[in-house]
Amino acid sequence: MSGNSKHAVNDTPNEQPPVAKGHVELRYVPYGAEKESTYLPAIRQLISKDLSEPYSIYVYRYFLYQWGELCFMALDEQDSLIGVIVCKLEPHRGGPMRGYIAMLATRSEYRGQGIATKLVRMAIDRMIEMDADEIALETEVDNTPSLRIYENLGFLRTKRLHRYYLNGNTAFRLILYLKPGIPYKPTFPPDYPPLSPSEQGQGLMDEDLIARQAALMRIEDVRGETHDVTGS
Ligand SMILES: CC(C)(COP(=O)(O)OP(=O)(O)OC[C@H]1O[C@@H](n2cnc3c(N)ncnc32)[C@H](O)[C@@H]1OP(=O)(O)O)[C@@H](O)C(=O)NCCC(=O)NCCS
Repeated sequence: MSGNSKHAVNDTPNEQPPVAKGHVELRYVPYGAEKESTYLPAIRQLISKDLSEPYSIYVYRYFLYQWGELCFMALDEQDSLIGVIVCKLEPHRGGPMRGYIAMLATRSEYRGQGIATKLVRMAIDRMIEMDADEIALETEVDNTPSLRIYENLGFLRTKRLHRYYLNGNTAFRLILYLKPGIPYKPTFPPDYPPLSPSEQGQGLMDEDLIARQAALMRIEDVRGETHDVTGS
């Protein structure tokens, strides 16, 4: 297994034996194309209930068709969906092989039992097996449970994205670096273009710069007709 094995908890990302959670037995299973008719509606329902971004069916299919092996589900004894994580993995702007955690949710009555943490660990382990260099995601700055999960696992806050979400909320970008030297690996185009000569020496404050970068990201998204959820 390559990468930082500190974060690796499973030798295989395949189906896990049942785990007792209080009095409820949960199974942790990878999503497979054969499970679409059974689980895609449940995944959409669980995620759309709690995440602020309204994702269309095409967004789910974008992830699940290409990276179904990076989606994991927690199921109860009746095979009802209790928790889910949806991810992707691809080169980031010609630089690092970047995993991206797009969606994570646990049913409200099952929270606080380590279910989301287990799903994130399974996704991390599978991405390490697939030779990921780093793993990124965005989460709202006031989503304490989410920040706790990721920071407990070693993710670092790398950017503050002003008014990142459609609801106007601000996000942190968190990254888990899996190999030495990855933070310094160049990307093309770079994440943000350099300041123009007219902007240099104008005494831009940090917050201004962050707002400018966030605005540029929005413009890129509109031009590329993509949605932030793809993390590209
Ligand atoms: C975020 C979410 C997935 C967490 O699911 P979960 O199964 O309860 O997560 P876990 O039990 O693995 O861990 C939750 C962590 O947050 C902590 N936590 C939970 N509620 C908290 C609160 N109100 N304040 C502070 N910490 C809290 C827990 O103590 C735990 O941290 P610890 O391991 O250091 O004790 C779940 O709350 C959810 O579905 N929220 C809505 C969707 C969402 O916000 N997704 C993340 C977007 S990126």
